[in-house]
Amino acid sequence: MKVLVTGAAGFIGFHLSKRLLEMDKEVIGVDNLNNYYNPVLKRERLDILNGYKNFHFLKQDIADFESLYSSLKDNQFNLIVHLAAQAGVRYSLTNPMEYAKSNCMGTVSVFELAKCLNVPKVVYASSSSVYGNKKKVPLSEKDRVDRPVSLYAATKKFSELAAYTYHHIYGIEMIGLRFFTVYGEYGRPDMAYFKFANSIMKDEPIDVYNYGDLKRDFTYIDDIIDGILSAIDHSFEYEIFNLGNSNPVKLMDFISILEEHLGRKAKKNFKEMQPGDVYCTYADISKAKRLLGYDPKTSVYEGLKRFAEWFKNEKNSLV
Ligand SMILES: NC(=O)c1ccc[n+]([C@@H]2O[C@H](COP(=O)([O-])OP(=O)(O)OC[C@H]3O[C@@H](n4cnc5c(N)ncnc54)[C@H](O)[C@@H]3O)[C@@H](O)[C@H]2O)c1
Repeated sequence: MKVLVTGAAGFIGFHLSKRLLEMDKEVIGVDNLNNYYNPVLKRERLDILNGYKNFHFLKQDIADFESLYSSLKDNQFNLIVHLAAQAGVRYSLTNPMEYAKSNCMGTVSVFELAKCLNVPKVVYASSSSVYGNKKKVPLSEKDRVDRPVSLYAATKKFSELAAYTYHHIYGIEMIGLRFFTVYGEYGRPDMAYFKFANSIMKDEPIDVYNYGDLKRDFTYIDDIIDGILSAIDHSFEYEIFNLGNSNPVKLMDFISILEEHLGRKAKKNFKEMQPGDVYCTYADISKAKRLLGYDPKTSVYEGLKRFAEWFKNEKNSLV
């Protein structure tokens, strides 16, 4: 099996590629290694992937279709897993064009590639942020998602719509996965839990938004990878699945657990809610359970323990 993974140097792309390589699949990884967060971490992830003989890396911007196509046109892929994107809700307030380029142009470019190379199936990343600020939880795939509260969310909804079009016209099997706040080792330094860990270790204050009154459905990376592998293994025409933990945790409890595992107390700087942020994310995962056999097993206590061990040993100055 030959798989194209976009965003392979990113957090989720790295873990997925590693798991596929351990299963003896051939993986072609594409990433532009941009410096949205410290690219040293992307290089470190790639160094690990480069240790597998079945891994090949292409440094390439997915939004440049001509160049992407000419680099890959001689390959026959069984599958594309499209994870490359400009991530982050807050950054989309100040850098909207990056989202238009990578998430809209880039996604069309990857779907075009699938069409031109006759790739039968694409699994792509969407996000819990498409749900916006819904009062009703848990968030279900049946809910309306046409009120995005950030441009990031709007571009993720765009991916789902474009995926439908490519399925409808060209018959490509399209599976969209709405990830809920993924965390773990080799994670993203721009995300709150990573910034918290960094500041706590440096004895610097952490910014706690909405005065700590937020809830997130934190989902451990290994559970997300199991969900992606399940989506790869099952066949559907066009489907969208929530991949979350379905167990939202209060931000203040999350911080306490992190403090316990890091062995240090946080200095908290309480702040107002940020524009574009949502109050609570909470995934209804009954559809993924039923159709994919998805069954997240890692508690936030256990997941943060593993993250904190990794962070203390290896990464305490990456933000
Ligand atoms: N981590 C989460 O909590 C989370 C939650 C919801 C959705 N997602 C989605 O999951 C996917 C993976 O997220 P992640 O957390 O691994 O993020 P990440 O930023 O670590 O990985 C994305 C990778 O894509 C690459 N990239 C960005 N624009 C590119 C372009 N134009 N051309 C080529 N490469 C490009 C980046 O260099 C990066 O390595 C993204 O689509 C993201 O929107 C993540």
